[in-house]
Parts: sequence; structure tokens; C-alpha cells
Amino acid sequence: MLSNAGPSRLRRADRAPGFGAASFKAWGPRADGQDVMGKSRIFALDPHPSLQYAHPMAQIRSLFTTRLYQAALSDHPPGIDAAELEASCYSIAEDDDAGQDWCEANGYPGYTSYASLTDLPWRFPIFADLVKSLDAHVADFAKDVQFDLQGRALVLEDLWINILPEGGTHSSHIHPHSVISGTTYVAMPDGTSALKLEDPRLPMMMAAPTRVKDAREELRQFVYVAPKVGDVLLWESWLRHEVPMNMAEDERISVSFNYKWA
Ligand SMILES: [Fe+2]
Repeated sequence: MLSNAGPSRLRRADRAPGFGAASFKAWGPRADGQDVMGKSRIFALDPHPSLQYAHPMAQIRSLFTTRLYQAALSDHPPGIDAAELEASCYSIAEDDDAGQDWCEANGYPGYTSYASLTDLPWRFPIFADLVKSLDAHVADFAKDVQFDLQGRALVLEDLWINILPEGGTHSSHIHPHSVISGTTYVAMPDGTSALKLEDPRLPMMMAAPTRVKDAREELRQFVYVAPKVGDVLLWESWLRHEVPMNMAEDERISVSFNYKWA
């Protein structure tokens, strides 16, 4: 039964009855060269099959994690009507000649107010309400990532509309000079793009093998997140991300923002 035993070899045994947890047996050579059975250990409930092959005596933990925040915008008042926000985005886009010109001159697919309008919350009450909600979400996230803000706040720096038509993409980028960035989703037609997040250590991996296809999320080099209308996503501004091509016929609409440390 243990004929494959060798130096520091691990073998998975049957699942322990009644535990729903994996039982492992470890064995290795004694000083005289004969294999002996090691201890049998029961692991705690295992969130992923790959963990079932970890060394039972080792302590393996994740370091240098980054956090991704996802919540319903409505979790913090005053509440935003999605249809009204969508209508406002279209209305602003239609009237923003400077923004349309900028998009055309810069080959930006669809529309963004990023380069033309810096005062959406001042001009439009629904954006002022949106910022009230976002401020609270960002404060929650700042606590989660355990920032020591030293009595200073994270405050909104930029807020802009993105309308991405069929076939449009937003290539990989970061948000320099900010601390927390994010997006809230206004229109997400069926089949539209998820947000693609990239492991920032990718340039350092050089000759390392890729991860297995079903690697645990925190070990993947790219993570795709498909938010729903009304969701808000937050991440640290240095995290590289992109919007792959919108394959839906309808437009994908979002409002993105940056927060800085005031
Ligand atoms: Fe972005």
C-alpha cells in the first residue's frame, strides 16, 4: 500500500468519515533508510482542492495581499436610482462637446468625461448624492486595509463617466497620484466585459511557470470580476486593471473615481 514511499513523500489518505475534511499521512526514510509512517493529521475544512496536497506539518500563509472591495452602492445612503444615473450619464455625454472632441482626438472608444468635466458633483445633484455614498464606502475600505490616515481623510479627487460601446476597450492602466480608485456600474448589458485585474508582480515572474487553470484566486495572475449594476468596486490605485473588449451590443456605462489622501 505504501510502495511509493520515498524521502519526505506525502500521500493523501481517504477522507476522514464524518469530517468532510482531508486526512493525510506523511512518511519518510528513517536513519536506517527504511520508510516509516508518520503522523496522520486532519486538516480543517479546505476551501480549495490544491490545498489537499500541502505539507501537513508546514505553515503556509499568504503575504503582501491586496484587497478588492465589492459592495452594493445602496449599502450606504442616500441611495442612487440606477435609471436616473444612466439617463444623467447620457445627457451629460450629449452636451459635452469638449469631451466628445477629446475622445475623438485621442482615439477613445465611446465617451469619457475624464478630460473635460471636473465638477460633476457640483453640476448634478445625483452625482453629489453618489459622492456621499462613495465617501462612506471608501472609508469602510480604508479601515479594511488598515491605513493609518493620521487624522487626515481620503477625499474625492476625480469622478468621471465612461460609456463604452460594442467593440470598445480600455487598456491596462493604473491611477497615479491616488490612493484608492474604483468604479460604480451603471449599465452592464449581458455579455459585456468584466473588470480584469493584474498581479502587480507579473514583471518579476520571468521564468516562473504559469499557474494551473483553476488556481486559487489569490494565486492567479489575472482576476476577472463581473460586477452588477449598482455595485461599487474599490482597489488600491496602483493595481493595474483594464476593461477588455465590450462584446455586448449595448453600451457599458460606469462611473469611475479616485480618492487621494488629503
Ligand atoms: Fe481605471
